[in-house]
Amino acid sequence: MKLFGVLGDPVSHSLSPVMHNAAFKALGMDCEYHAFRVSPENLEKALYGAYALGFGGLNLTIPLKEKALDIVQPSELARQIGAVNTVDFEHGMAGHNTDGMGAKMALSSAGIKITGKNILLLGAGGAARAIAFQLAKDGARVTIANRTLERAEALAKDVKKVGKAQASGYENLKNLIQDSDILINSTSVGMYPKISGTIVTSDMMHKDQVVFDIVYNPQNTLLLKEAKKAGATTIDGVMMLVFQGAESFKIWTGRTPPVDEMEKAVREKLA
Ligand code: ATR
Repeated sequence: MKLFGVLGDPVSHSLSPVMHNAAFKALGMDCEYHAFRVSPENLEKALYGAYALGFGGLNLTIPLKEKALDIVQPSELARQIGAVNTVDFEHGMAGHNTDGMGAKMALSSAGIKITGKNILLLGAGGAARAIAFQLAKDGARVTIANRTLERAEALAKDVKKVGKAQASGYENLKNLIQDSDILINSTSVGMYPKISGTIVTSDMMHKDQVVFDIVYNPQNTLLLKEAKKAGATTIDGVMMLVFQGAESFKIWTGRTPPVDEMEKAVREKLA
């Protein structure tokens, strides 16, 4: 039996165990995935311990993703993003970041093209960094709008090294939204328990728009409700969660997991 897991703090509410265990079961693999509470001070010991114990792979979540860069051998993308969410033990300790790929796959599995599209990304935190780098690399024009302009500017400056990016505050949001093909919320606004929050309302959106919220609890956020009111196409945060997990799964096992089974397991757990 091979062990996998997610390290973080807090981590007890992580949906990753139910999601990955559903995939292992569907594929008939003799593997188990568990959540482990680990503080930043203990990350290095925990990673070496898992390596020594023969773990198949790990995910990292808050507050460990940035710290891991100094411990594992990060991929170029993980280094650019500044965070590691996946550790593979096949050849030493390799660090990857599959969050941006999760966002990309959530869009492309819904039939949405990225190359040449105007993408308005709300937020400039850790999740935004991963998404901005990936989508800019894929040929989108990414406008990063953030409450704190300086953070958006710093991220846009980094992303410009790999593609097209610009920064903005929230004062000109309506025009920016009108000009965008895809709107992505990568802030925590609208997340449980503050579910009555949204940065954008239906009057600011248009029906040809794709609106993607990375918040998955609740699944139908206020932003997505507003987007539906405007007639826009919506994608929820469960899809990003599932696809970032699917990318990690591929890295660890070399196998393509059943994303529909993973999605089902996550939605059942959330419901
Ligand atoms: P994560 O790693 O989950 O992305 P983070 O790095 O703390 O978390 O980033 C949170 C993001 O949500 C930031 O873009 C933050 O905006 P600021 O940089 O201005 O703080 C955004 N955010 C959080 N609460 C917000 C609110 N009430 N209104 C607007 N933006 C908010």
